[in-house]
Amino acid sequence: MKKTRKILSVFMAVLLLALSATPVHAVSAWELYWADSEEAARGIIMQPGSDETERNFSWYMPADTTSCHIEISTNPLMLNERSVSGEITEAYQGDKVAKVTVSDLVPGETYYYVCVTDDEKSDMYSFDTVEADSFSALYISDIHITADNEDTVKDTAFAFADLLADANSRADLNLILSAGDQATDGLRREYEGLTFSPMSRSLSFATTIGNHDRKGVDYPCFNNLPNEDDGMVSSYQGGNYWFVKGDALFLCLDSNNASGTDHYNFVKKAVQANPDIKWRVVMMHHDLYGGSIEHRESENELLRLLLAPIMDEFNIDLVLTGHSHHYSVSDVLYNGKTVSKVENGATIENAGGTIYMVSASVGRARDAEGEIPYSDRISIGMDEYTDRLYNIIDFSSDAITVTTYEVGAEDAFVSFSITKTDDYEAPQFSIFRKIFSKLVNFIGTVYAVFNNIGKYSDLKEDGYEIDFGEAIF
Ligand SMILES: [Fe+2]
Ligand SMILES: [Fe+2]
Repeated sequence: MKKTRKILSVFMAVLLLALSATPVHAVSAWELYWADSEEAARGIIMQPGSDETERNFSWYMPADTTSCHIEISTNPLMLNERSVSGEITEAYQGDKVAKVTVSDLVPGETYYYVCVTDDEKSDMYSFDTVEADSFSALYISDIHITADNEDTVKDTAFAFADLLADANSRADLNLILSAGDQATDGLRREYEGLTFSPMSRSLSFATTIGNHDRKGVDYPCFNNLPNEDDGMVSSYQGGNYWFVKGDALFLCLDSNNASGTDHYNFVKKAVQANPDIKWRVVMMHHDLYGGSIEHRESENELLRLLLAPIMDEFNIDLVLTGHSHHYSVSDVLYNGKTVSKVENGATIENAGGTIYMVSASVGRARDAEGEIPYSDRISIGMDEYTDRLYNIIDFSSDAITVTTYEVGAEDAFVSFSITKTDDYEAPQFSIFRKIFSKLVNFIGTVYAVFNNIGKYSDLKEDGYEIDFGEAIF
């Protein structure tokens, strides 16, 4: 019986990978894969390592598991495989989670791997390491896998799997950048739905914590992220982390955390550790300039005070966000002011500031009624497009090119590029702003402590048993 299931699983994986490479709405294939849910329910995910020589993996395991490892090879028949053992960590109240980091990967190679729990093997998956500095990433936000019941998990997981297949048909993707609200209530079942598509096991899947991920406690369980930095006041569910890919440094911030001091120290350390990397990209959940819901504007105002000076001081090229579900591309901004507009189709050379993007949601359209286009610092989009958009970002040493598509549409919706010449001199952050920011950051840190206490109470009220100290610091 087990052997029959194994053969079926391998067949399904091959079929789905083939479907993933073509623009299909492969609902029937997804149904078959869902039925074979022993594999899909493990929540196997591959995430970036610290750089291209590493990949991080995690998956759920039964509570009585005693060992976990990955077998990996450059040969599809798994000849000369090597075994990399993992760490066993606790899932919330019960099962275990495997966390494995595979190092010493070679650029421009295809790797095949299986995840092993005690002596039980997963299907075989594969991934590519990129050569040189050019690669393509998929940037999305607000996937909102929703576990109101099994049907909603399935519907939202299938919609996301469809979007991944559509995006993969347009580009040779190697990385997923997901700017938060992966789940609606932060539940394990939702993260299992998130990792339903086999593409979450062949593309490095970088996530950032959103306000909805913070409604439960499972976010840190399914993740295995590199260079994590909890700072002084991280939330129970996670902190900041960074990784390098090609010539880009990705700084992933927990924007639920108002501790400007933590964010400042984290970005400074990461930038100092990677001084020669050309592009600096921040990914975080909360949009600073793109919000179009009036009550969100006060939250954005506070976050702008805390975070925009960090983008200015460290010359961040691009900030990828979500939260509002309204697609937008900001002006090039520095010190809150417009340096230049971003025209559709344009190339911005030596920007002199930062572009802030909001991706629309993957499948959760906003009811536009009562919402108003808010910011006058937006160059493209805003009030109309709230779901089924995604962005392919091509990175190279020469340029970052962002191209936005609607699922299933033939033509690109928006496209623009950023370039920098070798003699580009970024704006200098003034000493006055530095002193003022330090003060604001400290106030934000005090606020974050009280915010975490409030969140701790909310989680307790929802029945979660968590440690007070871990929830606050
Ligand atoms: Fe959202
Ligand atoms: Fe959100």
